[in-house]
Amino acid sequence: MGLRPAFLEPVLMPDALPRIPTDVTAQTLRSLEQCGDPRLLEIVSALVKHLHAFVREVRLTPDEWMTGIDFLTRTGQKCDAIRQEFILLSDVLGVSMTVDDVAHAEVPPNATESSALGPFYTDDAPEIEQGGTIARSGKGESVLVRGRVLDVRGEPIAGALVETWETDGEGLYDTQYANRVEPDYRGQLRTNAEGAFSFVAVKPVSYSIPTDGPAGEMLRATRRGTMRPAHLHLKVGAAGYRPLATSIYSAGDPFLFRDAVFGAKSSLVEEYRPAGEGAATHWILERDFVLADA
Ligand code: BEZ
Ligand code: FE
Repeated sequence: MGLRPAFLEPVLMPDALPRIPTDVTAQTLRSLEQCGDPRLLEIVSALVKHLHAFVREVRLTPDEWMTGIDFLTRTGQKCDAIRQEFILLSDVLGVSMTVDDVAHAEVPPNATESSALGPFYTDDAPEIEQGGTIARSGKGESVLVRGRVLDVRGEPIAGALVETWETDGEGLYDTQYANRVEPDYRGQLRTNAEGAFSFVAVKPVSYSIPTDGPAGEMLRATRRGTMRPAHLHLKVGAAGYRPLATSIYSAGDPFLFRDAVFGAKSSLVEEYRPAGEGAATHWILERDFVLADA
């Protein structure tokens, strides 16, 4: 038994500390364990997993990450009381319509399909009479829009609130004019005892979504189109029914198949027919809306 040289003896660390774990994803998920809200836990955990997987998949560099932070910062800075750049970004990334798809997965097939709400909805639309106009400054070709609000059994819904908004004939929403003093190309009315509504609007035109902010920058950088097919927005609601936000798209529009925000759906495409000699408007659009039970 010879003596072992001292340098061969293992170095014993008194009270060795456990190693700090290096798996950031596992640690981040573990940090959420005290979250008492199961739905919040589900959402934040999935967000963490997907974000970390995304960073690893594309091998995001620190410079690219900083560019992304700057992009999101500028997106927030572009928002104000009437401009919502985050909704626009969500729209062009197809997130808004994906949320919409998930939300409507259980809606009966004969209910009217929903479509992009978009960033131009406001809650200050004036009340109009049946047959009244929403186009106070009259820029565009006039159209009489009429139809009924029904339930999925085909029964009329009286007193349903119909809110509608559109661009003027030049493709701009009232809120895009710096000198907007009051709402225009917007209105709201209630259906009558037969569930019917009618109002005068202008025939929608295809238009470019706003491109002067980060969402537009992204569209240019990825060489994407910025146009939306011509459409009239409607929000329809009544007590006891699922609220509906939808749009009616104009048949034949060249952008139906390349909508910048993926909102157009075949079931929402309608023809405008000429109103004929001596009629009060140039065009007529007829369309019913079917609400699912709540
Ligand atoms: C709109 O139809 O008003 C709209 C929808 C999404 C993005 C931009 C505009
Ligand atoms: Fe629109």
